[in-house]
Amino acid sequence: MIVLSVESSCDETSVAISKDGKHVLSNVVLSQISLHQAFGGVVPEIASREHVKGITVVFEQAIKEAQLHVDDIDLIAVTKGPGLIGSLLVGINAAKAFAFAHHIPLIGVHHIAGHIYANQVNDEMVFPLVALVVSGGHTELILMKDHYQFEKLGETQDDAVGEAYDKIARILHLGYPGGPVIDQMAQTGNPTYPMPSINPTGTYDFSYSGLKSHVINTVNTHKMKKEPIQTHNMAASFQQAAVKHLIEQSKKAVTDTGANMFIVAGGVAANQSLRRAVFETFKDIKVTVPAFTYCTDNAAMIGIAGYYQYQQSKKHDDLSLNGASRMDLSSI
Ligand code: KG4
Ligand code: ZN
Repeated sequence: MIVLSVESSCDETSVAISKDGKHVLSNVVLSQISLHQAFGGVVPEIASREHVKGITVVFEQAIKEAQLHVDDIDLIAVTKGPGLIGSLLVGINAAKAFAFAHHIPLIGVHHIAGHIYANQVNDEMVFPLVALVVSGGHTELILMKDHYQFEKLGETQDDAVGEAYDKIARILHLGYPGGPVIDQMAQTGNPTYPMPSINPTGTYDFSYSGLKSHVINTVNTHKMKKEPIQTHNMAASFQQAAVKHLIEQSKKAVTDTGANMFIVAGGVAANQSLRRAVFETFKDIKVTVPAFTYCTDNAAMIGIAGYYQYQQSKKHDDLSLNGASRMDLSSI
């Protein structure tokens, strides 16, 4: 089955073609990051406008690179949420128009299901599995007992981990997005700044606002006293504490559920310390992290998730498909 997929939930315009939920034939990603950098974060109005400008070209490029004819496409999958509503609607409308014009069935896919299924490109899922979803908007532990069955075990009670990275990078004047640059600096720094430990609550939930505020307060106190901040060491200190919390909660979830596999999903899955820590922690079960290309937003992951969604439900969406800025993974 050949799936053409579309992702436009935030600041990447992407179209991909994949085969049988595994083989990526093309995955074109047009990133808007450089446009948003001047503002220190994604500006929704600019994001929607850029999606409109880029979507047709990205469609054409993805089909060309896959060396296929439109008649070869069996299914169109598009991110229906969660995300920026104006951005989502550009991808959804383009996917609907393409599906209608070429008489191809259409399905709407949950963005986080896409991040989770990015792991299926390099490895086969085995169940039960625990997925740690870590991105700019999400920090969640999901239990899957079979394909396309998502049970939320816990989630952040305040900031998402990626959001904490981005806010800390901002106060340290490291630019946007903050994750990659803090991660890189942390590799050559030492964790010399004391960080508060995040108290395990007995649940599988997360909390990043205390850690984020602690870093911001420390930086501000240094600024007031005109003392320099050792940025590499601050990055290493924050990253060590941030990853420790992710690992502790994940360990609890894996032990309690008796999971056979642990996977990481979302933009923060690119984090070098986190990638190392998961392989060191879960030695007795199967562990997979997505290839770097499939960590941040891309349409290939939506096509793979879409394939499995269709295999499980055998249901299409019609042209009334709509986007939603918030959408619970457990309810799909
Ligand atoms: O999944 P994604 O592309 O978009 C969302 O759905 O949110 O994730 C983007 C997030 C940003 O917060 C970015 O700072 C973070 O992922 N990120 C990282 C790294 N690369 C990207 N965070 C930590 N370490 C990284 N290497
Ligand atoms: Zn994402």
